[in-house]
Amino acid sequence: MARIDRQTVERILEAADIVDIVSDFVSLKRRGANYIGLCPFHNERTPSFSVSRTKGICKCFSCGKGGSPINFLMELEQFSYNEALRYIARKYNIEIKEHELTEEERQAENDRESMFAINEFALKHFMHNLKDTDAGNDIALPYLRQRGISQAMIDKFKLGYSIDKRDDLSRTAISKGFSERFLTDTGLCYRGDHDTLIDRFRSRIIYPVLSVSGKVIAFGGRTMRTSKEVAKYVNSPESVIYSKSRELYGLFQAKHAIAKADRCILVEGYMDVISMHQSGVENVVASSGTSLTEGQIRLIHRFTDNITVIYDSDPAGIKASLRGIDLILAEGMNVKVVLFPEGEDPDSYARTHSSSELQKYLEENEVDFIQFKTDILLKGTDSDPILKSKAIQSIVRTISVIPDQITRNVYVTECSRRLSISEQILALQVKKYRADFLEKETARKQRKEGYEQIEEIADTALSSSEINAETAHNGADDSALYPADYLRPFELELMRYIVKYGLANLCTGADAEGIYDDQLTIISYISRELADDEISISNKDLSMLYSAALAVSQGDNIAPRIEAERNRLKEIIDEKLNADLALLRNQATDIEAAERSEKLLHEDAEMQLNNGIDEFRASFIGHALMSDSDDTIRSLSTDLITTRYQLSKIHTKYAQLPTERERLADLVPLAVYNLKNAIVELNIHQLKEKLNGVWKSDDHTPVDQIISDMQKLSQIKCELGRYLGERILTRPQSR
Ligand code: UTP
Ligand code: MN
Repeated sequence: MARIDRQTVERILEAADIVDIVSDFVSLKRRGANYIGLCPFHNERTPSFSVSRTKGICKCFSCGKGGSPINFLMELEQFSYNEALRYIARKYNIEIKEHELTEEERQAENDRESMFAINEFALKHFMHNLKDTDAGNDIALPYLRQRGISQAMIDKFKLGYSIDKRDDLSRTAISKGFSERFLTDTGLCYRGDHDTLIDRFRSRIIYPVLSVSGKVIAFGGRTMRTSKEVAKYVNSPESVIYSKSRELYGLFQAKHAIAKADRCILVEGYMDVISMHQSGVENVVASSGTSLTEGQIRLIHRFTDNITVIYDSDPAGIKASLRGIDLILAEGMNVKVVLFPEGEDPDSYARTHSSSELQKYLEENEVDFIQFKTDILLKGTDSDPILKSKAIQSIVRTISVIPDQITRNVYVTECSRRLSISEQILALQVKKYRADFLEKETARKQRKEGYEQIEEIADTALSSSEINAETAHNGADDSALYPADYLRPFELELMRYIVKYGLANLCTGADAEGIYDDQLTIISYISRELADDEISISNKDLSMLYSAALAVSQGDNIAPRIEAERNRLKEIIDEKLNADLALLRNQATDIEAAERSEKLLHEDAEMQLNNGIDEFRASFIGHALMSDSDDTIRSLSTDLITTRYQLSKIHTKYAQLPTERERLADLVPLAVYNLKNAIVELNIHQLKEKLNGVWKSDDHTPVDQIISDMQKLSQIKCELGRYLGERILTRPQSR
């Protein structure tokens, strides 16, 4: 698939109507200005999924999922960004002009397509072997039956069979015109002696591995023999279309169930997945016998925050895979663990028990990771103090990788209660490990480059973003070590104004005659303020968001689009106005009164138009960002727009208070001030640390210098405060 050119992307995004698109999946009812329906992302009986046509967004007030049309489609259908665009284009009959690919890109694209095609062919061939050949019916099907696999599962997981012949697949494929190159590129075949082509899968049950969107990317083949001499499984090698560490077996079949149950169960093998499905537990995937990777966890995270890991009771295996738990926690997800009885795995258990017994077993035996690690690490040690202390260290280290501070604290309390160790001591240890962990992570991430790696630090502070500026100020001792963390709430607040109100004017009406120029937009005010003081945004994700917002605000097509919106609105409003005027004239008896009414109607129409344009300008940047092709930008902007803030709660309660929208001329400068103030405080704090260090270390910065720097900063702090005070006092009061 080729890339879609920029103009077409814009046309598609413009055409996308959130109500239309959500309606393809959810039945919506009108409720006031919005629409409401049952959330497609989780099971519910009372609707909490709300759609706003004017804002162009949807959001579940229970599970929080939603966003722009693009985001909605990507989350629900697990589309890529381009797939979502294509879906919308098809819906609105927008022709996609394929972007001109370079010869190289075209070649790479064609290669991938050819590999998918040949895999699809192989899949059909293997399924045919199982169903329609003697060997399939006599050997393979009986094997599957004997293992208790139903026809429904054979169909659902597209199981197949490879005949006991060296060239069955390759000959058939070549006779159908497939090229040898792709047979080897996909790993379906390999080269033997004298360059002959040999089928990789021979005399094996075939488990196709599907991508999230259902494309065949690899195969696993199980021998039906019990001999230890043959490898039990043969798997496709990695290829351009198959990266083992980023795929999970069964995810395609499980994704809807995972989203609905808001939990993903993780098992080891192909058979475990299939047997559990057959037992009615469908939110299950397998890591295919290897240890869990970050990429796989991210994949699951797209559907849920909750993972249950199932281990069979092989102690060596369990110890080796404990790292998986840390990876899940570090991703900010919650993890539960279920241990199966000696000698049982999910497959054997599911086969010998009813589906309700299986479900009951899972429910009754899931434990949190503290319990699990305690059990595993202390097993049979009769609380040997050294082993116990090692176990505690290990648990504490695990707690320290959790990004969210509150969650960490909860586990510290829990751990203290369970192991009867002082909470303070544990907390101190966690803090120490956390600092280590962050340091290592930062180093690792810097090495890796690229912003998909920033979540760890970002998440840590994101959770504190809802704490308002005041508390962040006072309770900052912990995070002050990490400037970006400390500044995050302030930076977030500024970004929120940009995303929500970007191109709206900072001041309206009377305000505009105050000390700011008439046409100063929110984003230009903020960018000017930051540039004047040479402030850059320190959180990497927010800084990306900021750059993207600036780029949108400097785009060349803004004026024409606002003009187009004005024309569109004007047409609607004029039509209504003319109808009203006609009615008025028709019924008028008193000419003077009629003229007065006409004037009012005109004024009203004018106001409606201005408000409409204003609204359009305000949401322009947010709209663009919520449909951005970058995951981070899209989700950050969506969060900023849909998160309900403290302030708006007060508003709904005391409707007479001016809205945030009306107070921007106060609030935005205040937010800028808060950030500047925080930066100054951070610097003061750092100088203080330095001052303390002077007595201990060999740091020879003259004390005088430090003290004079501190005094300068304090001075700046005062001036900042004074400036803000004056600004608020001298500005003409609104309303
Ligand atoms: P298991 O040995 O538990 O296999 O390995 P299983 O899925 O339960 O299969 P049955 O029940 O014996 O038929 C777990 C997973 O490890 C991978 C496979 O993905 C398997 O599903 N594996 C195992 C291999 O890739 N190669 C092997 O030789 C063994
Ligand atoms: Mn098994």
